[in-house]
Amino acid sequence: MNKGIQKLFSEVPNTYELVNHLLTFGLDIAWRKKTAKIASELGGKRWIDVCCGTGEMVAYLSQLAKDDTQIFAADFSLPMLSKAFLKPEGKHIKFVLSDIKKLPFDDNIFDLITISFATRNINLNRDILIQSFSEFYRILKQGGSFINLETSQPSLSLIRKLFHFYAKLFVKPIGSFVSGSKASYTYLSKTIPKFYFAEELVDIMRIAGFNEIHYQKLFLGISAIHQGFKS
Ligand SMILES: C[S@@+](CC[C@H](N)C(=O)[O-])C[C@H]1O[C@@H](n2cnc3c(N)ncnc32)[C@H](O)[C@@H]1O
Repeated sequence: MNKGIQKLFSEVPNTYELVNHLLTFGLDIAWRKKTAKIASELGGKRWIDVCCGTGEMVAYLSQLAKDDTQIFAADFSLPMLSKAFLKPEGKHIKFVLSDIKKLPFDDNIFDLITISFATRNINLNRDILIQSFSEFYRILKQGGSFINLETSQPSLSLIRKLFHFYAKLFVKPIGSFVSGSKASYTYLSKTIPKFYFAEELVDIMRIAGFNEIHYQKLFLGISAIHQGFKS
């Protein structure tokens, strides 16, 4: 378990959602809702949102789920998980305190796995990310789907440079000021320019076992929704 990252997230639960909304001008809300809609339309009776944080994505999933859907949410930060638990949707969700590298579930049991804005954090390096995605693949049923919402790299170099400049100039100072945690937002701002292009993430998903992978870019490619299946 990466204690450093776990500690960083344990410092920000109270302001985490506000900082995201401020920094993205609310776009992150629309992106999570869009991802939850795509995910929910795939159906299935057992879903899990991994690295659920304060539970925004899993709350949207829960709002769209049929009554007989079992919904789980996993994270290794108790303070983040506690925030998620307190949401009105929390009573319909089974929360699991766990590192996603070793999830406490049998093979082939979930119809759907989602992750939002956390892949950058589990990407300690490419091999570890592949290992984590393989763990998601392991618990997914045959025919199940994995959906990943994350920042990406715009293909146009000018837009990419502007995006990185924005991350450098605003993410650290605004995040640090609002949350009071300089370390967390110094770290988060550094992960943005280092993350993969959409096609590179497709390769990583493929190596982890997923197939029929496709993605859609959001807002000039600064974020993307990737989808893969276990066949
Ligand atoms: C940037 S937040 C994203 C939260 C949420 N998914 C969202 O859309 O806002 C990343 C979350 O991933 C969790 N996390 C990072 N690495 C993890 C790991 N190895 N196992 C479990 N949770 C992890 C952190 O505790 C944090 O809550």
